Amino acid sequence: MKIAIMGAMVEEVDPFLSESEHEPLLKYFKKHNDIEYGGNLYHEAKYRDLDIVLAYSKIGKVYSALTAATMIEKFGCEMLLFTGVAGAVAPDLKIGDLVAAIQLCQHDLDITAFGHPHGYVPEGKVYIEPSKELLHIAKEVADDRGIELKKGIIATGDQFIADAKKKRWIADTFDADAIEMEGASVAVVCDSLNVPFFVLRAISDAADMDAAFDFDEFLKHSSKVSSSFIIGMLEKISKSGN
Ligand code: ADE
Repeated sequence: MKIAIMGAMVEEVDPFLSESEHEPLLKYFKKHNDIEYGGNLYHEAKYRDLDIVLAYSKIGKVYSALTAATMIEKFGCEMLLFTGVAGAVAPDLKIGDLVAAIQLCQHDLDITAFGHPHGYVPEGKVYIEPSKELLHIAKEVADDRGIELKKGIIATGDQFIADAKKKRWIADTFDADAIEMEGASVAVVCDSLNVPFFVLRAISDAADMDAAFDFDEFLKHSSKVSSSFIIGMLEKISKSGN
């Protein structure tokens, strides 16, 4: 089984490759090949019996769609796990909390002038759903570890949201729990190409006036929370004999 692990920023995928003595558990992958393609670096690696392709895409919907499509079409990945951070929209979400997407939508996709709902394009869908099997595996990891995994709607757009009013609009319009800048574009690619996928985010900020400061402060910590959970999922996938 070949699995794509992707994030948007270098900080989001670094924990998988970290050599830090203080965090030996984070030295997860045995790298064996680095390939540059389309302006990104793809690390081919091994985790137990699983073949891994690890990359960060750069921020936003376009770069993340390119990376997801490349991992599937060029590298032959049969499953994609996205790891990274998000801004909280739901008031109960705190910094460091884990959110697994149960639906993803694009909050900045707008052809409402033609009478369509926000987030919709003809022949597309407003909400895309990740693999139920992967969500089930995630629940098992959370139960095994005794940690809380929240499930929610993730809204994606090409904007860093640092404004309480805008955040409220996204919450009200899409019933969103968290916001970020890549999940729904990756979801569109995987859904279109019939590749099971899963999007996990650890909260880095509350998408309010302090968001940029909090993001800088908590990006690394929350990235580690998310990547550690992904490793738990890989262990389960590996054991299940895939
Ligand atoms: N990723 C993490 N925090 C975010 C925010 N406030 N807006 C958009 N993407 C984010």
